[in-house]
Amino acid sequence: MNSSRSDAYLLCIEPNCGARYGIEQRLYTCSQCDGLLEVKYVFDLERTPDRLKVFFSERRKINADIEHSGVWRFRELLPFVSDLSKVTTLSEGNTPIYRAPRSAEYAGLNELQLKHQGLNPTGSFKDNGMTTGVTQAVILGASAVACASTGNTSASMAAYAARAGLRAFVFIPADQIAYGKLSQSLEYGARVIQIDGNFDDAMRLVRQLAVETDLYLLNSINPFRLEGQKAIIIELMEQCEWNPPDWIVLPGGNLGNTSAFGKALLELKELGFIDKMPRLAVIQAEGAAPFYEMLRSKSSILKPVAEPVTLATAIKIGEPVSWKKAIRAIESTNGVVEKVTEQEIADAKAVIGTDGIGCEPASAATLAGIKQLVRSGTIENSSKVVGVLTGNLLKDPTYTIGYHTGDLKLDIREKIEGSFVNKPLKAAANKEQIRRMLEI
Ligand code: F0G
Repeated sequence: MNSSRSDAYLLCIEPNCGARYGIEQRLYTCSQCDGLLEVKYVFDLERTPDRLKVFFSERRKINADIEHSGVWRFRELLPFVSDLSKVTTLSEGNTPIYRAPRSAEYAGLNELQLKHQGLNPTGSFKDNGMTTGVTQAVILGASAVACASTGNTSASMAAYAARAGLRAFVFIPADQIAYGKLSQSLEYGARVIQIDGNFDDAMRLVRQLAVETDLYLLNSINPFRLEGQKAIIIELMEQCEWNPPDWIVLPGGNLGNTSAFGKALLELKELGFIDKMPRLAVIQAEGAAPFYEMLRSKSSILKPVAEPVTLATAIKIGEPVSWKKAIRAIESTNGVVEKVTEQEIADAKAVIGTDGIGCEPASAATLAGIKQLVRSGTIENSSKVVGVLTGNLLKDPTYTIGYHTGDLKLDIREKIEGSFVNKPLKAAANKEQIRRMLEI
C-alpha cells in the first residue's frame, strides 16, 4: 500500500470552472467546459521533506522494481495509487546528469549540466510519464490504450502496454516517423496505424476515438502522464543536492513536459523541498513555434501553426494540447520561451556529441536555445544551468548521418551546412594509404 495519506482528485484548470472529479473517472478533459484537467492532492505527508529526501535516495538501493524506479521512489509526491501492485514499471528514470564542458563553451556558459532523459528504457522521457499513465489504465481496468505520436510516445506506450498485457494502438503521421521508433512499436506488439496527415491530425483523430470507443488515451493530455514526468524535476533537484539551478531548459512541442515541470516545481516549493524557484526556458523550432509566437505577441490565445515545419520531428507540432498549463508553468517560474533555427539545432546536436553524450534533434534545441539566451543576455555566463535532453541519439540515425555527410535538407531549397561535420572516410584495403589518413 502507499506510504502516504494524501488524497487525490482531478481539477479543471479553467479559472471560471474549477470542476472536480474523482480519479476513478475516465476523463481527459472537463465534462462541463472541456478544459484541461490536472491531478491535485491534499498532501498529508507522514515525513518531513528532509526525511523524505533521505528516503527517496535510500529506496534506490532496494532491489525491488518499484523502489529503484526513478518515478515510484518519489511516490509520496505523486500519491494517486493506493494499491502499488497495479504499478507497471520498466525501471524508468534514474537518468544521469552530465557535466558538458564543450557544450558549455559553445553556448557561452562557464558550466553546463545536461540531464539525459534519452537514457530511459525506451530512449526518451516519455517512459517517466508512461509508467504512471499505464498504471492508471490498469487501475481503471482498461483493456486497450492509444496515442498519437511522432515516435517516442508510441515506442514508450507500446512497451509499457506490453508489460501490463494491454492492447496498444499507435497513430503516427505516415512517412514522418524515425525508423528506430517505428521498429520499437512493432517489436513491442502495438498495432501501428499510419495516418495520411501530420501529428496534429493524428492527435485530433485519436482524441475523438478515445471518447467514442473503449480506447484509453495516453497522450500528455492525460493528466496521469504528467504526474510521472514531474519525477524528472524531482530527481534533477536530488542530483543538485536540492539546491535549484538558476535555469532549467527544455524543448517544447505538445508542451506536456513544460506543464509537468512547472507543476513539479510549484509543488516542491509549496511543500518545502526547495526554497528557490528555478526559471524555465522552453525552446521551440522556428517552423513549429506557436507558443513562442503567442508569448512574444503577448496574446492570450494560441494561434495554431497549420503546417509545422522542422526536421526535429518530436517537436513538429502546430497545435500544442497543453498550452494553457504551459503558460502557468512559464508565469510561475518567471520563465521564457525561445525559438531556434534548423541550422542551430543541427549544429548544437553535433556539439552535444563532442561531449560524448549525444541526443536526438529535438533535444538539441535545448542547447541551441541556451546559446541564444546567453547571447541575448537573458541567461548570464555564470548562471547555473541544467539542460534536459529528452531523447536518445539512436532515434534518428538518418538525420545524424545526413548532417555528417552534408546531406541534411529541410526541403529541396534549404540545405543545412553543418559547422561540425565529421564525414566518414573511404579507403582501399591498403595499410599505407590508411596510415596517411590517420594524421597521427
Ligand atoms: N523531445 C522529445 C524527444 C520528444 O519526443 C517530444 C515529444 C518532445 C521533446 C516535446 O515534448 O510534447 O511534452 O512538449 N514527442 C511526442 C511524441 C510528440 O509523439 O513522441 P512535449
